[in-house]
Amino acid sequence: MTSPRRVLITAALPYANDHPHLGHVAGVYLPADTYNRYLRLKGVETVFICGSDDHGVPVTISAQKENCTPTEVVARYRGIQEKVFSSLGVEFDHYSGTSTCEGHAELSQEFFSKILEAGDIEENVTDQFYCESCDMFLPDRYVEGTCPHCEAEGARGDQCDGCGQSYEQSELDKPHCAICESTPRIVPTKHWFFRLDRYEDRLEEWLEGCEGWRDNVRNFARGIVREGLPARSITRDLEWGVPVPLEEAKDKVLYVWFDAPIGYISFTKEHFKGTDNPEEWREWWSDKDVELVHFLGKDNIIFHAVIWPAMLMGQGEFNLPTSIPANEYLNFMGQKFSKSRGVGVTAEEILESFDADRVRYYLTTVAPEGRDTSFTWEDFIQRNNDELSDVVGNFAHRMLTFTAKNFESKVPEGAENSEFQNEVLQVIREAKEGWDDALDRQKFREGLEKVLKMTRQGNRLFDQAEPWKSRKSDLSRCGADLAVLLELVYALAVLLKPYLPTSSEKLLSTFVSCAPSASDALELLGTENILRTGCDLHPPGIIFPRLELPEDGSDQA
Ligand code: MF3
Ligand code: ZN
Repeated sequence: MTSPRRVLITAALPYANDHPHLGHVAGVYLPADTYNRYLRLKGVETVFICGSDDHGVPVTISAQKENCTPTEVVARYRGIQEKVFSSLGVEFDHYSGTSTCEGHAELSQEFFSKILEAGDIEENVTDQFYCESCDMFLPDRYVEGTCPHCEAEGARGDQCDGCGQSYEQSELDKPHCAICESTPRIVPTKHWFFRLDRYEDRLEEWLEGCEGWRDNVRNFARGIVREGLPARSITRDLEWGVPVPLEEAKDKVLYVWFDAPIGYISFTKEHFKGTDNPEEWREWWSDKDVELVHFLGKDNIIFHAVIWPAMLMGQGEFNLPTSIPANEYLNFMGQKFSKSRGVGVTAEEILESFDADRVRYYLTTVAPEGRDTSFTWEDFIQRNNDELSDVVGNFAHRMLTFTAKNFESKVPEGAENSEFQNEVLQVIREAKEGWDDALDRQKFREGLEKVLKMTRQGNRLFDQAEPWKSRKSDLSRCGADLAVLLELVYALAVLLKPYLPTSSEKLLSTFVSCAPSASDALELLGTENILRTGCDLHPPGIIFPRLELPEDGSDQA
């Protein structure tokens, strides 16, 4: 017997100072969760890891603004994040945080020390911005200016949102302090730099072999490696963070982007702590057959596809990412989501008015997989009504009420090999194969389209079969036609499972006594009738009532 496939899935750790907005959900957390559910449905063993990214400068800025400690900020937002994810049905196996996870700091320090011992870290005194009026060094996001690459304004100290490039602070044009706006002074300070140039060949070779990746990710990463990788400073003059494990750097911490991805490992470790096999985390990170999949937004590509793999190579004991499905951005009515400018809607807000599955459905249909997309309220309502209510819900309801009226809600006897049966089974089979292929390639929108198409075909086939006529002339034929259409309803429930966990469960419960579990049924879908003849169906009623635009919806921009 071959052992089951194993996949370790991560979703980018959200900064612990932000309410997750729908852009984050659509680009990172929802696809990751859908993928996890899909794999589990297929019987793949998975571990799904996430947690908060606590050490970033944004957290210290929030703490300063809110007049509290970073620890307090972290605790508050961590609570918000966990609540949002759970109410959306995004179910991690483990949600931790980089400042609270036991062993995280030690593991991060170990990463640093190993790379240092290998001679891949160099010291350098550099000029850093120092704000006189705030009396502190201004790392990364504390300083804003004009991007040295694309000239976009409002670029942060370490990375530009406009072009995705990252750079050293001193390269930033027209710098100003993000807290008090004053122009910072340049002061020399010593830092430790990761010699990425020593990894260029290995990275190039590795990326070359990374087939099946999204082009945006692979091409971007290869381009950056080919340009040559400058050494990057991995220490900061800050108090909040993981201390640098060197006597002479006692007052410095590791750069947040150095310790954050290590969280993927330390959280996995924490996840297995207290289980029968606390060492199992090692298998998930080191066994060659385990796949490692990182979900993230496009601004994170350089870190996950270039720097993090180099960090992993430097350890010599962990797997490299198998795939990095990075998404573009979901905008809000044509503009970038921005809490400070009041653009967008948070996950908490939309969940006050709508069920999680409605949100999951719409965000999948507008998933920013290959290009930026836009959320609009009209579109949200329309797609939910036109597709989920009028196609999916309506089809299931039509089949089940017809069965209730004419066959006492029992699965009628099928007709092996009738032309109609073969036609419907083929529709199911093709949909399932297309769904499987799309989800396997992490094309979630495409997978959902296959399910919708199948349902539309089912509706058409029902109309063609005219069972309301055969009901009078040939009841057994009517029953047989309906039996295979019920197979299609069942297939619908199974195929929607990764996407709409609650509603698919409702629909599946219709078939509790008539079908094997969704996992067991998956392979059989479309090959034969799997529902047991004569068994009782339990119709769930209307699962997708039509929606209305929320009162203040259309003008919420
Ligand atoms: N906090 C980062 C962001 O929101 C993502 C960190 S991902 C990790 O952009 F890999 F570093 F954890
Ligand atoms: Zn200042």
